[in-house]
Amino acid sequence: MDIKHIINKLYYENNATKEELIYVLDKINEDEKDYLIKKSDKLRTRYYDNKVYMRGLIEFTNYCVRNCKYCGIRSDNSKADRYRLSLEEILECAAIGNRFGYKTFVLQGGEDPYFTDERMVKIIQAIKEKYPENAITLSIGERSYESYKRMFEAGADRYLLRHETATKKLYESLHPNASYENRVQCLYNLKEIGYEVGAGFMIGLPNQSNEDLVNDLLFIKKLNPHMCGIGPFIPQKDTPLRNEVGGTVEKTMIMLALLRLMVPKAMLPATTALGSIDPLGREKGLKAGANVVMPNLSPKQVRDKYALYDGKICTGDEAAECRNCIERRINLSGYKVEIGRGDSVIKKEQMKVGDNDE
Ligand code: SAM
Ligand code: FES
Repeated sequence: MDIKHIINKLYYENNATKEELIYVLDKINEDEKDYLIKKSDKLRTRYYDNKVYMRGLIEFTNYCVRNCKYCGIRSDNSKADRYRLSLEEILECAAIGNRFGYKTFVLQGGEDPYFTDERMVKIIQAIKEKYPENAITLSIGERSYESYKRMFEAGADRYLLRHETATKKLYESLHPNASYENRVQCLYNLKEIGYEVGAGFMIGLPNQSNEDLVNDLLFIKKLNPHMCGIGPFIPQKDTPLRNEVGGTVEKTMIMLALLRLMVPKAMLPATTALGSIDPLGREKGLKAGANVVMPNLSPKQVRDKYALYDGKICTGDEAAECRNCIERRINLSGYKVEIGRGDSVIKKEQMKVGDNDE
């Protein structure tokens, strides 16, 4: 097999076989990696030009009932200093984001039963009342179909739920008492309800093979989500995986580039985790095909409490510092900051089909 030939096939047909993808991951050399990244950048430019979309991130609770083995806010971590933001505090974060011109707010948190459907609906409606033009993205884990529907009807537009890994056995070894099937079902439910949906996975999980990573690529190809968030696994000192080795920038770049070739129209973030393992990690992510960044709007006093992994960047910064830093980095890398709503091309196409149907 010839790797450049497989990359060309991916570029033109946006697909490859499982064997071809495993071969690429097993054997790719530096020259082929540069070629892959160039092709990925070309496809990103075709659909999104050189724009990088800004999503204001509000980490509004670090309480969580789940016990994901890699995650610093897992329920068994008694060292986590728990917090919840009030509605007023969430609105204050949104007001700051709005002053920056951001048109998307991402509400992320652990699976916190305090935030019932009623409370979430109230938060969503309050944000939408003040900023009707803005998109609201939720990232609050697995909930019932009815719950997702209520929040969608209240005005939520998008939902991020990483599938974490598409290998059932690996998924279940990392998520005690959780079901892989339910995670996947949630993603399909969200899609059916009408959300713009984001899946995603971690790179460099303990015992994760290249075949597992290819399972992720093929899962994403099949789901065809509007967004896909991928980043390196990074050990956190108060979790069972504290002594494991984390994912690398190089592997994350290769995976981002392969994803861009497989689902060229998806929104792909250059994640905070990538920026946390390398000072230029987010810039490298953009180069490899990412087109979204998520500057943090959370209040400074809670930032270090949302400690999913060790060495997380931006924990000491004010929202304005984060914004300036990130915008400078984007401009210096030759990309253009885009503060608009930034619906994915996939969503726009779906809307056009809908218009024709009427
Ligand atoms: N509770 C929601 C959920 O489960 O989807 C959203 C919050 S969760 C903390 C957000 C993401 O953080 C997870 O999907 C996971 O991929 C990532 N994450 C958690 N721990 C991590 C670690 N140690 N290294 C890298 N990413 C991590
Ligand atoms: Fe709950 Fe990770 S264990 S967000």
